[in-house]
Amino acid sequence: MERREFLTLSGAAAVALLTGCGGGGGGNDAGSTLTPIAKSLPIPPSLTGTGAGTASDPKVYELRVQSSSHDFFHEGKTATYAVNGTFLGPTLFLRDGEDVSIKYENTLSETISMHGHGMHLPANMDGSAWQNIAAGTTWSAKYTVNQKACTNWYHPHTLKQTSEQVYKGIAGMIIIEDAESDALDLPKRYGIDDIPLVLQDRKFDNAVQLLYSPNMHEVMTGYIGDTFLANGAIEPTFDAEAKEIRFRILNGSNSSMYKIGFSDGRAFKQIATDNAFLESPVSMTSLVLSPAERAEIVVDLSGDIGKSIELKEFLYNKTFVKINVSKSASATTTLPSALTTLTRLVPPSTVTRTFTLEASDGNFTINNKVMDLNRIDETVYLDDIELWEITNTMGVNHNFHMHGTHFQLISRNGNTSIPANEDGYKDTVWIPADESVQIVVKMTDYTDITVPYMYHCHFLEHEDRGMMGQFIVR
Ligand code: C2O
Ligand code: CU
Ligand code: CU
Repeated sequence: MERREFLTLSGAAAVALLTGCGGGGGGNDAGSTLTPIAKSLPIPPSLTGTGAGTASDPKVYELRVQSSSHDFFHEGKTATYAVNGTFLGPTLFLRDGEDVSIKYENTLSETISMHGHGMHLPANMDGSAWQNIAAGTTWSAKYTVNQKACTNWYHPHTLKQTSEQVYKGIAGMIIIEDAESDALDLPKRYGIDDIPLVLQDRKFDNAVQLLYSPNMHEVMTGYIGDTFLANGAIEPTFDAEAKEIRFRILNGSNSSMYKIGFSDGRAFKQIATDNAFLESPVSMTSLVLSPAERAEIVVDLSGDIGKSIELKEFLYNKTFVKINVSKSASATTTLPSALTTLTRLVPPSTVTRTFTLEASDGNFTINNKVMDLNRIDETVYLDDIELWEITNTMGVNHNFHMHGTHFQLISRNGNTSIPANEDGYKDTVWIPADESVQIVVKMTDYTDITVPYMYHCHFLEHEDRGMMGQFIVR
């Protein structure tokens, strides 16, 4: 345990940390003794919406949030929450410029809200706890898609309940395409060479049920299961064509850092960050994603027919997907060397706002405040270019996510040379223990003096215990 983290805790919480218990923590993680069901990599169904995509005839997407049960292990079924299916939900395909109406029907017996993470939209369509969906009711997010091609996602954003609702299985991907992505020679055959990957980990109890009971130590350092999932399956198999394959990777975990790469150490290209393509592909052999971050990668399997490799998680030495290169290419692609042009904002020379991530008395805070729906923390003026500095004062990982827009990284710990694979449009940034980041922010479109957007740590156990704030744009 880090001294720093220790000092920021109250006595009782510190004792809990020391003993590794307190504040829940019943049951044991039986995942490693159960027998996983062998599966092909599930590809979430694609939802393309009905309607013309115009203001008078928006594309309508019907999503039903429901209780279900899912097959993870041979020993029995697992009770879950899901969207339309049995675990997670369909992939929504959206197009820049189109009008959409994403209809969420809450058939659960508890309140939820459904947030479009990474979406550039008005605050009253954001799906935060300001747009709660009571049990048995329906809410629609109606807006004009207004951003570059990217991979976003939807998930609950219910005050203090987000972590458990996500854990049970409510989440899905949103893929946005635009004229630029249309023109690029990228793998874009969904499920064939353009593969969504929602990566998560879970704990299961002896009765094969999801076990969600983080103790104080796990709240601090991460509630990490021993069963790793790709699209809701345990070490599934993907039969790949021998060609370039694009993976749209989401760290969909509650609070796990993932370091992702291939079992043979091969290089791949990262082509996109959270909210847009990178300007050009970046060659990597491993990729670190904190919770809610996305990366699109392209790996070239064209010379690998007959081979098997694995998509790995290196921090915990787990396998996400077993890839068999078993088919010859039915069409080829050639990764372009230029992908897009990003607008680079020049930040002001002095910091506009500071955010300090801390913990005290078992609460997680930003600038010493616990999240309060009735308090607006910040007011941001339309079109101002601001420099935000976020400092992690603790000995554990955090990250920082803001709603409504993307930002760009300006420095890490005062160092302005940004890693090439982070030098793009982001909405979530990892802040390691005792480090700080600076980001440049500009709110470009939507003012609303009553409904705020939120910013928070996306380690869901931290968010639910107060590490979140609200800003309005005027
Ligand atoms: Cu992915 Cu405020 O959330
Ligand atoms: Cu968000
Ligand atoms: Cu955190």
